[in-house]
Amino acid sequence: MMTPATAVDTHPPADLSMNETPYPPLPGVRRIVADGAAALQRYPDRTSSALVAALSARLDVGPEAILVGPGSAGLCQHLVQSLGPRPEVVHAALSFEGYPLIIRNAGARAVPVPLRGYDHDLPAMADAVTERTRCVLLCNPNNPTGAVLRRAEVEAFLDRVPADVPVIVDEAYREFVTDPDVPDGMDLYRAYDNVCVLRTFSKAYGLAALRVGYAVVPPRLTQAAALTGAVFFPNALAQAAAVASLTPEVTTELTRRCADLVASRARLVDALRDLGLTVAPSEANFVWLPLGERAAAFAERARAAGILVMALPGAGVRITVGSDEANDRLCAFVRAALTDGF
Ligand SMILES: Cc1ncc(COP(=O)(O)O)c(C=O)c1O
Repeated sequence: MMTPATAVDTHPPADLSMNETPYPPLPGVRRIVADGAAALQRYPDRTSSALVAALSARLDVGPEAILVGPGSAGLCQHLVQSLGPRPEVVHAALSFEGYPLIIRNAGARAVPVPLRGYDHDLPAMADAVTERTRCVLLCNPNNPTGAVLRRAEVEAFLDRVPADVPVIVDEAYREFVTDPDVPDGMDLYRAYDNVCVLRTFSKAYGLAALRVGYAVVPPRLTQAAALTGAVFFPNALAQAAAVASLTPEVTTELTRRCADLVASRARLVDALRDLGLTVAPSEANFVWLPLGERAAAFAERARAAGILVMALPGAGVRITVGSDEANDRLCAFVRAALTDGF
């Protein structure tokens, strides 16, 4: 029988800086990893065949459309590298802090397009696409603002991007989305020949320590990726844990946890707004406070109070939705800081 999920923070300080899940490993996954330790001397299956088969069944796409990799960041690196040789990659800014590094590592040049408020400026991003563009990165929901791209605007964007420019839709936080107007990347993949969908087991699935993610990619692009893929595959424990995470029993528990987290997110947003802070609407497992010049000081004071958050100096602070205990601690800190004249 499944035990109910309880949110437990394992770090003594409340670490709300990394967008990790507050829940313990999903049922059965810890044992799979422990059992896997008996064969650590063996190399992993470099084709990740069991995981590719499980994803193929789950997503209803052929295995030739699936890539798996060491975290979605590792896989994003692999993809951007294999999509060369055009020199530019268009992405939103602020968006996932890993993109500029990934683009640089791939020998390409980042073309950051400023957000419009909390949102990707899709018309401006379409304007930024030229014959030099290797690919476009869309982050939905966006890290760090938590904002989502909606179906009509994404489709209008995709209609403008030339078919030979891949658009990578990074859905690291997809499982936390409840807005029905947010397109499922898989539907976009089916409708457009140049869409790649990037997902991870690190966030909702709670496997951040193992490093495993996947992409669904037009098969002509997986062939190019295969040529450079020899070093980009997940370790054996990660593969086994990811396969176990896709079973129906675990999926039921995962769905329940995501619903609980979404409810916690709503309570946290309400509590922070009631305290007087501006909080961006979020469809992810984190919230964004656009504190501007006060961001760094906020993070510093939070750290002194034993709460770790992610500050982007001059812009804002991103705070992961944690356990009830960690969220309460955060609200108590904010109340005290504001009373103190912060
Ligand atoms: C938008 C986004 N994409 C990708 C990643 C990378 O995740 P991982 O490499 O753990 O799969 C993150 C991690 O924070 C993220 O926020």
